[in-house]
Amino acid sequence: MRVLGLETTCDETAASVVELKPGGGGLIRSNEVRSQIAEHAAFGGVVPEIAARAHVDMIDHLVRRALDEAGLELADLDGIAAAAGPGLIGGVMVGLTTGKALALASGKPFMAVNHLEAHALTARLTDGVAFPYLMLLVSGGHTQLIAVLGVGEYRRLGTTVDDAIGEAFDKVAKMLGLPYPGGPEVEKAAQGGDPERFALPRPMLRRPGADFSLSGLKTAVRLEVQRRGRLIGSDVADLCASFQAAIVDVIADRTRGGLRLFGQQFGTPTCLVVAGGVAANGAIRHALARLSTETGVTLALPPPALCTDNGAMIAWAGLERLQLGLIDGMDFAPRPRWPLDLSAERVHNGKA
Ligand code: KG4
Ligand code: ZN
Repeated sequence: MRVLGLETTCDETAASVVELKPGGGGLIRSNEVRSQIAEHAAFGGVVPEIAARAHVDMIDHLVRRALDEAGLELADLDGIAAAAGPGLIGGVMVGLTTGKALALASGKPFMAVNHLEAHALTARLTDGVAFPYLMLLVSGGHTQLIAVLGVGEYRRLGTTVDDAIGEAFDKVAKMLGLPYPGGPEVEKAAQGGDPERFALPRPMLRRPGADFSLSGLKTAVRLEVQRRGRLIGSDVADLCASFQAAIVDVIADRTRGGLRLFGQQFGTPTCLVVAGGVAANGAIRHALARLSTETGVTLALPPPALCTDNGAMIAWAGLERLQLGLIDGMDFAPRPRWPLDLSAERVHNGKA
């Protein structure tokens, strides 16, 4: 079974063909990703209109390359999948419409994939991880701890009450005059810095539950920058190192909370899966490895290229859905907001 997957929800245009391996797990036949970082860098963040136009420019080309790289034609596929949200509406419409058009033209089944579900299922593509497991999703737009019980069966155990972790990295980088995207820049600068020079807060540490809060930490960095007026010597490196050390403590503590909640509700967790661009951070990967040793829970950390947004995760989620007969119609509308756990979302918004 082979599926083509399209990803256009944020600032990466991506197309990939994934094939089901006989023993489970997946084989990535091609994985074409084009990042729009250069287009957005001058603005210090993703500009939705520019993103949508760049997706239109690139998507056909990437589909062609993904098929060529895989040595396949549309007729050789068993289905077409496209991310239908959550994300920037203009971009989502480009990928979703392209996916539907390819499905219609080739007469193949179409799967509208939730981008978060694709992140959640990636460890099954790479490591063949069995349900249930705990997922820590840490990206520019999302910071969540989710119990993954099966395809389409998710329970949110924790989320951020304000900024996402990647967003906090990006905002701190901006305050310190580092380029966008800030995460890798902060990590690089932190390598030469003193993580103990600035005593920054660790919001939510040791609180019950598994929720995150980042705005207090971000504000503490801002106040420190304002107090100094001009950053000199090792100030930037030390602020980055101190900020990253605080984030590492928070992630370890909140993930421990998530594992505890998982244990209470679904039985002893055996696997912790990590996803999202922030999972490329070496200090965070290291801390999660320590947590895995401490708790005896196996850690599944897909390679950085599969942690950040890509088409292979969409193709794989589509393939999992296709196997279960979960096919979508041509009337499937784009969903700028599309939480994995609808019950948690209603309670969170006070609408329940
Ligand atoms: O998953 P992703 O590629 O895109 C979405 O947000 O969906 O994640 C991008 C985020 C950005 O905020 C970026 O600054 C952050 O991941 N990031 C990092 C690192 N590499 C990327 N944050 C910390 N350390 C890194 N090495
Ligand atoms: Zn993502």
